[in-house]
Amino acid sequence: KPHATLIFSRHGESQWNVDNRFTGWVDVDLSAKGLGEAKSAGTLLKSEGIKLDVAFTSYLKRAIKTCDLALESADQLHVPVTKSWRLNERMYGGLTGLDKKETVKKHGADQVQVWRRSFDIPPPEIEAGSEYDPAKERKYAALDKKDIPKTECLKDTIARVMPFWEEAIVPELKSGKTVFVAAHGNSIRAILKFLEGISDNDITGLEIPTGRPLMYKLDADLKPIKSPDAIAPLSFGKYMGNLEEIKAAAEAVKNQTKVAAPAGGAKIMAIK
Ligand code: 3PG
Repeated sequence: KPHATLIFSRHGESQWNVDNRFTGWVDVDLSAKGLGEAKSAGTLLKSEGIKLDVAFTSYLKRAIKTCDLALESADQLHVPVTKSWRLNERMYGGLTGLDKKETVKKHGADQVQVWRRSFDIPPPEIEAGSEYDPAKERKYAALDKKDIPKTECLKDTIARVMPFWEEAIVPELKSGKTVFVAAHGNSIRAILKFLEGISDNDITGLEIPTGRPLMYKLDADLKPIKSPDAIAPLSFGKYMGNLEEIKAAAEAVKNQTKVAAPAGGAKIMAIK
C-alpha cells in the first residue's frame, strides 16, 4: 500500500543543452523550450491531481526555475522549496564548456562514454584559474573547500548527494509526504541507482530526459513499488506523460555524443 510519493524532474532543456556543451556546475539558464518543459511538467502534475507537500532543488538556476515554474503551473507555489548544492549536476571538470561532439572527435567515442557514463572514472580535473571553477563562486563560500569538486564521476556524485537524500528527503517520505525533486540528469541518476537497485554496470544505460516527471510510490519501509509502465532499466519509476515521447527523449540524451561515422572513408569537410 503506497505510504509516500516521490516525483523527480530533471530541469527543462538548458542553453548549453541546446549548444550541446558539457555543463556540470556552470549556472546556465533554461532555453525557451526548457521554460515550456518546466511549465508543462507542472501542468501534468496538476492534471494528474498530484498534491505536493515539499520540494527540493539544487543551487543551479536551470533546476531552481524548473522547480518554481512547475509549482506555479501546478498551482502549488505555496509548497516549501529547499535548495542544496548536494543536488547539483555532476561536476564535469576539465570537460566543462566543451562541445560534446567536438570532444568525441578529439578523444574518441569510447573515452567520452567512459567520462560521461562510467561509474567511477572521472573526467580530467578543471584547470586552476578556469573561468568555470566553482571554488570562487560566492554561493559555495560556506562549503568546506574539500566539498567543492574539481571533477566528479557518478560515484563521487553519489557520495555527496546521498547524505542529503538521507538527512533531508527520507524524513519527509517517512512521514508520508508527497515530495518533488527538481534536479539534474546525474544527481537524479545517483538517487535512482540506489532506489532502483541498479548495478554499477547497468547504470551506464540510464538516461534522464529533460522536464519529464518521474513518479515513485513507496511503501511504509520506503521500498519502491513496481510500476508496469516502467521504462528499462527502471522497474519502479513511472514517467508521467507520453511514454513513446519520453523513450525518444531519453535516446536523444544518449545520442548527444553520437558522431556520424565517415561514410566510406569520405573526408569530413569542416563546414564553417
Ligand atoms: C551536463 O552537465 O552537461 C548535462 O546536464 C548532463 O550531461 P550528460 O548527459 O552528458 O551527463
